Amino acid sequence: MAIETVGVVGAGQMGNGIAHVFAAAGYDVLLTDISEEALERALEVIAANLGRQVSRGKIGEEDRNAALSRIATTPKLTDLGRTDLVIEAATERETIKQAIFEDLVPHLKPETILTSNTSSISITRLASRTDRPEKFMGFHFMNPVPVMQLVELIRGIATDDATYSALKEVVENLGKTAASAEDFPAFIVNRILMPMINEAVYTLYEGVGSVSSIDSAMKLGTNHPMGPLELADFIGLDTCLAIMNVLHDGLADTKYRPCPLLTKYVEAGWLGRKTERGFYDYRGEVPVPTR
Ligand code: CAA
Repeated sequence: MAIETVGVVGAGQMGNGIAHVFAAAGYDVLLTDISEEALERALEVIAANLGRQVSRGKIGEEDRNAALSRIATTPKLTDLGRTDLVIEAATERETIKQAIFEDLVPHLKPETILTSNTSSISITRLASRTDRPEKFMGFHFMNPVPVMQLVELIRGIATDDATYSALKEVVENLGKTAASAEDFPAFIVNRILMPMINEAVYTLYEGVGSVSSIDSAMKLGTNHPMGPLELADFIGLDTCLAIMNVLHDGLADTKYRPCPLLTKYVEAGWLGRKTERGFYDYRGEVPVPTR
C-alpha cells in the first residue's frame, strides 16, 4: 500500500519535528494533541524551523509554504483513522501510549501501519495490545528531528517483512538513514547514550567535576556537539530518568540504576530546557549552571 497520509499523535518537541520532516518530504500530515494550545504552538515552531532552513539556504520559500500547507491539525485522535501511517509521539509513559492505541485502533483502516516513537518501551508489548502486531513497529526519531540523520527501526516479535520494508522506504523518502535495532530495552541509541548521561550526573553528584567542567571535558575532549548535561537538559530530565528506569527494570542490572541527583532534579520539576531549569538555568540571557 502506498503511504500518502501520515498521522502524528502528540505535538510536543518530537511530534512537531516529525510532522515537519514528513510535510517537507511531500506527505500530507494530520497532527493531533489533547491540547489545542499545543497544536497552535507546534504550527508556530514548525513555521519557525522551516524558516530557519530557508534562511540557511537549505530549502526555498516555496518549499516552506508547500510544507506548511500539507500539515493539518485536529484535537480528535479518531480523525487519524483515515491516515496510512500513524506515528505515536506522546509522553514517554506506557499507560498513556496504550490508552491512545486503545482509542485509535477501532477507527484505523485495516492496512494502516501503526508505529511508536518510543525511545525505550518494548515494541512487542505495545504491539500486543493492538489488533495489528504484524503491522506495528518502533519508529524512533532523534531530536532535533529536522537536523538528525538517524531513524531507528525496531521490529516487534510479530512485525512482518512488508511493514519493515515499507518503513525503510519511508525513511529513505525523508532523506534520512535507518539503523535496525532488536526489541530490547532502549534499543541502540539510548542503551548507549543514557548510561553516559547518567554517569555524567554521577560525576557531578560525587563532586568529581562541576556542570561546566563535565560539559567542557566531553565537548572539547571527545568532540561531542553538546556536553552530556547540556544534552540531558535538551532531551528532558524526565525522559532521561524514564529511560534509565526502563533499562534498570528491563535488564535487571544495577549498572543502570538512575543517579539519585537525576531523580532529585525531576522531583523538583527542573526538567531542563522545557521548564527553563535543569542542570542549567535558562531564564536569563545565557544558560547558567545550577550547581
Ligand atoms: N529545525 C531545523 N533546523 C534546526 C533545528 C530545528 N529544530 N535546530 C537546529 N537546526 C539547524 C540550524 O539551522 C543549523 O543549520 P546549518 O547547519 O544549516 O547552519 C544547524 O541545525 C545547527 O544549529 P545551530 O547553529 O543553531 O546550533 P549548533 O551548531 O549548536 O547545533 C544541534 C545544534 C544540532 C542541536 C547540535 O548541538 C547537536 O547535534 N546536538 C546533539 C543533539 C543530539 O545528540 N540529539 C540526539 C538526542 S538523543 C535522542 O533524541 C533520542 C532520545 O530518544 C532521547
